[in-house]
Amino acid sequence: MEETFPLFSAVLLLLCGFLIICLRRVWWKPESCRIKLKEQGITGPPPSMILGNIPEMKRMVSQISETPKIDGCLTVLPYFQQWTKNYGKLFRFELGGIQLLYVSNLELVKEISRFRSLDLGKPAYLQNERGALLGKGLITANGAVWSHQRKTIAPQLGTEKVKDMVKLMVESGDILVKTWEKIIDSEGEDGIVEIMVDQHMRNFTSYIVSKVIFGNDHHKGIKIFPKCQALINAMGGATTLGIPLSRFLPTKANRTAWKLSEKIHGMIMDISKERIGSTSKDMLQVILEGAENGELWPLTKDEFIADNCKDIFFGGYEPPALAAIWGLMLLASHPEWQARARSEVLEVCEGQQILDYNMLTKMKVNMAMMELTVLFALILSNFNISISPNYLHSPKFGLLLEPEHGVKLLVRKI
Ligand SMILES: *[C@@H]1O[C@H](CO)[C@@H](O)[C@H](O)[C@H]1NC(C)=O
Ligand SMILES: *[C@@H]1O[C@H](CO)[C@@H](O)[C@H](O)[C@H]1NC(C)=O
Ligand SMILES: *[C@@H]1O[C@H](CO)[C@@H](O)[C@H](O)[C@H]1NC(C)=O
Repeated sequence: MEETFPLFSAVLLLLCGFLIICLRRVWWKPESCRIKLKEQGITGPPPSMILGNIPEMKRMVSQISETPKIDGCLTVLPYFQQWTKNYGKLFRFELGGIQLLYVSNLELVKEISRFRSLDLGKPAYLQNERGALLGKGLITANGAVWSHQRKTIAPQLGTEKVKDMVKLMVESGDILVKTWEKIIDSEGEDGIVEIMVDQHMRNFTSYIVSKVIFGNDHHKGIKIFPKCQALINAMGGATTLGIPLSRFLPTKANRTAWKLSEKIHGMIMDISKERIGSTSKDMLQVILEGAENGELWPLTKDEFIADNCKDIFFGGYEPPALAAIWGLMLLASHPEWQARARSEVLEVCEGQQILDYNMLTKMKVNMAMMELTVLFALILSNFNISISPNYLHSPKFGLLLEPEHGVKLLVRKI
């Protein structure tokens, strides 16, 4: 009896401590955050304990029974439409204890992205949930190390550098045009061929990113992209984002993701180790120099190098490729937009063979980003595109919004 009693009370004490920690995490932390937001007039859908608004989101998704229409892309995220109706353009919602702010007021979005204070870093959930993908680089880092990364890398993304990048974009676009011409010559019937554009777009963006980061070593860099794609696929399947602690579960997808992440880290480090004493002017060199001076904590030197490369890899590869895929789908399904964009391209480039930075600033139609402008200009001035009858419209929300079955176009040389 004398011996079991202390054991019993120790267990009881431990249980109490555990309960208090749990309560703090699942109830008090989210609740105090919601109170602070409410004081500023920001409300949102009432969350349930532990899972937050996840059950409600799942219910709304399951209620969409009709097959999506080409113009109805938003039906993949029905909750944002519903909540915007109820709470306006600024509201909060909760994914398993993580409070998120939904901002669709353009002015506010701009202001947030201009904000330079160290206090407004990146939410920890990005590092936690997406760590395998993004590490602790520019996209997810916080505090002093974030500021150092910004100073090191951001100048590389400024206007002057963009002019150099335009050359790379045209180079990569030309490769794509030649590839499509070859396919039409060898497989086309009456000069028309069906092309699934997804991999072509990813090759277009990966060539550019690889040259920007690795310069003359880009042929080594390009070998990393298949691993990146596999990692994106492994992580896109995990739809349980936000369920507390699920990221530590050694599920099959998680183990695959961790392994791929290590492999990518290793490949980047191999390339940078061969760099000692080099005078290249590419992004890798800038990052290597940044790793030698400045605040890196809590990152190690290797992490600083690999994670920043990874961020530029993923940021410059997948989102623009998806934007290009969806953009082509829309241009192909709206012949009148396609004709308008094409005539603008021909007008601006009149008589000249090669696109340059000055021409690009004159074009305005479908095209906020330089990279897409170059791509669409090259495609539209060489090909007439329409949607293939074999295309099945099914937007799927993985890591980003992607076409579940790819985008198939009918392509004809003009
Ligand atoms: C994309 O690039 C890879 C590697 O360079 C190549 O093997 C593949 O055929 C390319 N795919 C397309 C659709 O161009
Ligand atoms: C681990 O798997 C869970 C559940 O599938 C997922 O939510 C989480 O994001 C994964 N974690 C990582 C680091 O990939
Ligand atoms: C593109 O194809 C459409 C439909 O077949 C046709 O009406 C249009 O004139 C074509 N445009 C060019 C520039 O060939």
